[in-house]
Amino acid sequence: MIDKVISRLEKGKQGSVDELTDFLRIPSVSADPAHKGDMRKAADWLAKKMQAAGVDAEIMETKGHPIVCGERLDNDGGPTVLVYGHYDVQPPDPLDEWETSPFEPVIKNGKIVARGSSDDKGQLYTHVKAVEAWLAETGRLPINMKFIFEGEEEVSSVHLGDFLKENRKKLACDVIIVSDTSQFAPGLPAITYGLKGLSYLEIRITGPSADLHSGSFGGSVANPANVLAKIIAGMHDEKGRITIPGFYDDVKNLEDWERKEYAKLPFDEEEYREITGVPVLWGEEGYTTVERRWARPTLDVNGIWGGYQGEGAKTIIPARAGAKVSMRLVPDQDPDKITKLFEKYVRSVTPESVRLEIIPMHGGKPFLIDPKSVFFEKASEAIEKGFGVKPLLIREGGSIPITETFREVLGVDTLLLGWGQNDDKTHSPNEHFDLGDFHKGTLSAAHLIGLLGA
Ligand code: BES
Ligand code: MN
Ligand code: MN
Repeated sequence: MIDKVISRLEKGKQGSVDELTDFLRIPSVSADPAHKGDMRKAADWLAKKMQAAGVDAEIMETKGHPIVCGERLDNDGGPTVLVYGHYDVQPPDPLDEWETSPFEPVIKNGKIVARGSSDDKGQLYTHVKAVEAWLAETGRLPINMKFIFEGEEEVSSVHLGDFLKENRKKLACDVIIVSDTSQFAPGLPAITYGLKGLSYLEIRITGPSADLHSGSFGGSVANPANVLAKIIAGMHDEKGRITIPGFYDDVKNLEDWERKEYAKLPFDEEEYREITGVPVLWGEEGYTTVERRWARPTLDVNGIWGGYQGEGAKTIIPARAGAKVSMRLVPDQDPDKITKLFEKYVRSVTPESVRLEIIPMHGGKPFLIDPKSVFFEKASEAIEKGFGVKPLLIREGGSIPITETFREVLGVDTLLLGWGQNDDKTHSPNEHFDLGDFHKGTLSAAHLIGLLGA
């Protein structure tokens, strides 16, 4: 059975790439209201492809962008797998840094270049193609499958949590599969068993009611930019630890087996340094680069502004300054609690000479599963068949907050089977997805259906 499915996928390789190209042409940017119509177009496109494959698919409305749902319940009493993915993409800016247009996909060096190619349209589409091949060759699936492809992941899944609660019965399943992460490196596929959470805030500091002459007024009023810089500088100590009181209280320490396993991974610090382009690596004392990236919480300024940014010199005390700050969290840190600790701390170190406003933006819980279960074993076997090598066990620094909500609402674990690469440039100009990974991901998805049905 599986042989026929696989050979169909081999023969249909080019066709799959052509379909993905069509999908990528739709600029489904969830954050930008100007693309509301394109969001609907992408949802319709996906639902039609699923229907054509033989999946009972429909579009479900939310207060935001629509969710594409589907099911195929072919094995009464058999396991039920729910596949989740997101058809929305990040904004393509800065446009002038793209070598080709973000929504006109081109193939370069075996990679398809377009916004959303790796995150997440190319990855989610592997599951649609796998199901299509199974149904075309055998007329039925050996397992039950359900699908939710949302349009708001990149804007922190605003409506999906409620949707899950309202559709608990309809979405009941034994395990969830998500392809929206990366492999460890090219040729080294992985299963991800942990993700970071997130707390994201904006700080605004205001002083004088308008910019002031820095000679006439300097030294007599506090400068909001100076104050902001000092607050931010105080957020880390010399050991690279975050100074917010209580920040580390709920941090789950790395297990011994994790430290041992991470140390065995083929990770080259120097190569990593080169990829990032920094003069030397930096991070929290007492942890390796891999540990810092996967299992230690972080705090970073994502954007900072204030005062004169133009050509030449302009002598002012700026009226205001601000920054956007993200904290990436690890189990068992709670984003709401961390947000409160952050606010309390910033208030406590802000002098009376300025006004402070803190705006929490969004958050998400960290995620960690026990990497031992029948489903885990089967997924590992499926990837080995699809990629020709056994997958490694990794965590990631990125966040997919809905994974923890899946556990809370549906009571099941999520397996993160990522087909991407760390250097796919997701969220960045020239995002791309390796077509070999696209194909091997599709094969793995098809094998997984077969193995779970056996
Ligand atoms: N696919 C990513 C998550 C991801 C990133 C996994 C890197 C593994 C490695 C997802 O689309 C994403 O970008 N998530 C956001 C979440 C945020 C919008 C709440 C993130 O991590 O910034
Ligand atoms: Mn994603
Ligand atoms: Mn993303």
